[in-house]
Amino acid sequence: SDSLKVGLLGAGVVGSQVARILAEQSGELEARVGRRLELVGVGVRDLTKERPGIDPALLTDDLESVVDRSSVVIEVMGGMEPAGALVRRALSRGSSVVTANKALLAEHLAEFSILADDNNADLYFEAAVAGAIPIVRPLRESLVGDEVNSVMGIVNGTTNYILDKMVTSGLEFDEALRQAQGLGYAEADPTADVGGHDAAAKAAILAGLAFHSDVKGSQVYCEGITEITKQDIQSAKAMNCTVKLLAVARTNGDQVAVKVHPAMVPFTHPLASVSGAYNAVFVTSREAGELMFLGPGAGGAPTASAVMGDVVTVARHIVRGGRTTSSSSYRQRQVSDIGDT
Ligand code: NDP
Ligand code: HSE
Repeated sequence: SDSLKVGLLGAGVVGSQVARILAEQSGELEARVGRRLELVGVGVRDLTKERPGIDPALLTDDLESVVDRSSVVIEVMGGMEPAGALVRRALSRGSSVVTANKALLAEHLAEFSILADDNNADLYFEAAVAGAIPIVRPLRESLVGDEVNSVMGIVNGTTNYILDKMVTSGLEFDEALRQAQGLGYAEADPTADVGGHDAAAKAAILAGLAFHSDVKGSQVYCEGITEITKQDIQSAKAMNCTVKLLAVARTNGDQVAVKVHPAMVPFTHPLASVSGAYNAVFVTSREAGELMFLGPGAGGAPTASAVMGDVVTVARHIVRGGRTTSSSSYRQRQVSDIGDT
């Protein structure tokens, strides 16, 4: 049968790993989807860069042409524009989109979801929150028949890595940040990580899914870790605590409150042992009670794992029919207030 055309926008930390998996696992993926996944183009900015493992003939800086040739568009380029215009372009022509771009989704998830539904396309974004950890699908699909009351935890790998190194190895903030950047955890502009904005974007996405609301990243109260000193870490230690950057989203049914801030966490609490770039998310719901999700929250291969799960899912929908409705949740309830609940 004909191959299914896949376009890749971005070949950096995440995109290069996605390209590797598409090549290395092509037989397995074909068996799981029921059709061969054919990479038809890789959109980048700098055509002169060495990209081991990627066929140079696929590289282009004409990202619109990649979108226009693809039934599945993987957006791992990051940033608001041109990523936003390319996602709209793909969905408008009925192509399914898989994206890891939390900054973009935190402002446009409701809009994109409506666009996806109106054009019979899929919009999947498991990698946008907490890297490899399945948390988007559990909230969007597994728990959609329940009533989620709160979602909280550690959703930024870079800041968790920095705080962890400051506590366990006595590293300086700047050196720990440099290591996190070297390991591919940080955003292109790490201000988004250390300022808490990346966690705020993820918290907005989680709150939107959990509470069937349209929550924007810009509505989230946000305090990062830039003011945390070695002295703060020492004081916390003296009280048998560590410092973690927490994202907390709650609802009382009418109102939604979403915040990101550093917090003292007792060493005995499960969140205290979340080390390196790992993330952890706790969910409480009316029927299920308490759930906990733990795993690698950042990094090329773990994030590419989540991206590929989405690619297989949307590809199966194209091959066998079926689709996940995206927008009904956001149409259901407007956020009446973002404040303390
Ligand atoms: P990188 O900066 O490593 O890679 C970005 C890629 O996109 C590069 O190949 C770059 O091209 C290309 N690109 C960016 N802007 C443009 C543009 N305007 N035109 C053409 N090409 C462009 O980012 P990451 O791989 O780390 O992150 C990608 C996305 O995944 C982001 O949205 C990020 O938030 C998200 N994410 C990242 C995680 C991680 O651990 N790194 C984890 C979860 C999500 P060139 O190579 O030529 O510079
Ligand atoms: N910069 C992000 C982090 C990447 O450190 O968590 C994963 O979303």
